[in-house]
Amino acid sequence: MAQEWACEPHTRAKHALLRAYVDAWVPIIAHAAIRIGRREEIVLIDAFAGPGGYTTGDAGSPLILLNAVLSRSELRAAWSAQRFRVLLIEQDPTFAAALLARVAALGDLPPNVTVDVRHGRFEAEIDLELQRRRGGASPSTFAFIDPFGYSRSPMDLTRSLRIGQRVDTLTFVPFENVTRFLGRVGQEAAMDNLFGSPEWRDAILMSGAQRTEFLIALYRRQLTGPGQGRHSLVFGVTTRDGHDYRLFFSTDHPVGVERMKDAMWKVDPVNGAQFVASPMEGEPVLFSVEPDLGALRRVVVARFAGRSVAVDDLEKFVTLETAFRKQHLRSALKPLSEAELTVARPTGKTRGWPVGSVLTFR
Ligand SMILES: C[S@@+](CC[C@H](N)C(=O)[O-])C[C@H]1O[C@@H](n2cnc3c(N)ncnc32)[C@H](O)[C@@H]1O
Repeated sequence: MAQEWACEPHTRAKHALLRAYVDAWVPIIAHAAIRIGRREEIVLIDAFAGPGGYTTGDAGSPLILLNAVLSRSELRAAWSAQRFRVLLIEQDPTFAAALLARVAALGDLPPNVTVDVRHGRFEAEIDLELQRRRGGASPSTFAFIDPFGYSRSPMDLTRSLRIGQRVDTLTFVPFENVTRFLGRVGQEAAMDNLFGSPEWRDAILMSGAQRTEFLIALYRRQLTGPGQGRHSLVFGVTTRDGHDYRLFFSTDHPVGVERMKDAMWKVDPVNGAQFVASPMEGEPVLFSVEPDLGALRRVVVARFAGRSVAVDDLEKFVTLETAFRKQHLRSALKPLSEAELTVARPTGKTRGWPVGSVLTFR
């Protein structure tokens, strides 16, 4: 019989990222629906849900998704016309039963929240979900895809979910195993499925960081190909014993990128890119290093030297084309002298960089 397991530090980091994102996503989507006067169905999917909890007492990802909805006081008031559906898919019968029990223990749910626990395989359940959507409006959806191993979450399935747009996905991939087993005979079908492309074969002759970076870029390209999300991000998670996992995110919206970057910088306040578990049991993680805003300054100056740029466009550049958040921009450019950077503000404004300001880099 399948046994529940302990929640490790790297899993807590994964959950912290998930929680920070869905906690921001739910109100953004609900408010957007209200703004345009739409009665929306808003869907959260946990495609590989697990039992919903750990032997260490930590909540599993399905409870994190549920809590992002159930913790909102607006549910019974401002959001009462919106419908929230949380779809939790788990293949293992023991885990599916444990999950059902944990959901039941939450008691009565508000009338506009449905929790659908499915004991079944992601592949089949997603097909049913897509059939349900066929012909109707495509609901705003967040999907968490967190299998054990890399052969279980084919790119095709992630992509099929994105049909109709308005779908954000976060996928956990044991990347070290992917790079390690890449050239091994017998892995071809699994790799073709994972990447949804035969191009991974180009990495067989590469090694080390070059191989990893090539494959990460390929995975991100596949997530954002034609008809897919417009933007992707990647976050690294390293376990206590040095194993390397990646979380890949895709969205259509720059706001989705902003919120996921907020989540990433929350988990990694130094680089916004990676969580590394301490190899020592119980050792606190100390963040004594500040983000390297000099790196952001150099990127911005190199890109805009000799040019003028509106502050909104500059923020968009930082959000979509660098690892930093737009909130880093002002501190990063502060050391520049007037000989290096001048600011033209809209009439009547004398301070800061209000909307409409134009920055000129010498
Ligand atoms: C990594 S665990 C999920 C952990 C959970 N997402 C969390 O963070 O708390 C992966 C789960 O996927 C389930 N699983 C494996 N293959 C599956 C499939 N094809 N469809 C649905 N669930 C599957 C396993 O039984 C396992 O419980």
